[in-house]
Amino acid sequence: MKPIIETERLLLRELVSTDVQAFYELDSNPEVHKYLGSNAATSMEECSAMIEFIQKQYQENGIGRWAMIEKESGHFIGWTGLKLMKTTVNNRTDFLDVGYRLIQNYWGKGYATESTVASLKYAFENLKAQEVIGITHIDNLASRRVLEKCGLKFIETFTWLEWGNTECNWLKISKEEWIAHNEN
Ligand SMILES: CC(C)(COP(=O)(O)OP(=O)(O)OC[C@H]1O[C@@H](n2cnc3c(N)ncnc32)[C@H](O)[C@@H]1OP(=O)(O)O)[C@@H](O)C(=O)NCCC(=O)NCCS
Repeated sequence: MKPIIETERLLLRELVSTDVQAFYELDSNPEVHKYLGSNAATSMEECSAMIEFIQKQYQENGIGRWAMIEKESGHFIGWTGLKLMKTTVNNRTDFLDVGYRLIQNYWGKGYATESTVASLKYAFENLKAQEVIGITHIDNLASRRVLEKCGLKFIETFTWLEWGNTECNWLKISKEEWIAHNEN
């Protein structure tokens, strides 16, 4: 399959049904869910349904999270990218959210940051977005660091009911801020 985006170390492409085994390795790890307000997956069927749910978003919204493939090994290492949020979160609806979730073995290598840099470029250049939002649990310092390294700015803390009533940080980057961030 042709990747949508190629970065120095990653290929980002749409999720396909055969990603399910690696998706299960990712999503069945409770450590991955520590700050997500969700439970670890317990079956491959659940993961197949999640892949189908994201594939539906590609069709309906023209965008959805992408598979992240490590070029060196060819391994699926997680998902990343943009989601059009159609539900109301922190009093906002229909906004582009940037996110990522990696298999634990691949944490700490700069992959979330590398993929988020590419996702923001895609949002502003290809999708002509005016702003992108990032949401993290307040204790998820690694995730907040990724967003801030990519130029998103902390706006406020809010309680996200659908995410298990957890306290989350809301970060944002406008197109102007993104251009300025890349000039520095
Ligand atoms: C959060 C997550 C995506 C980070 O991925 P990653 O590829 O390891 O991130 P990167 O290596 O690009 O960057 C992480 C940054 O956070 C820093 N960091 C890591 N743990 C940290 C901590 N406990 N406190 C503060 N900073 C931390 C790293 O040092 C690095 O910053 P640096 O480059 O300035 O040193 C990954 O841990 C993950 O998939 N977690 C589970 C799912 C998840 O929480 N997703 C985010 C939901 S909002």
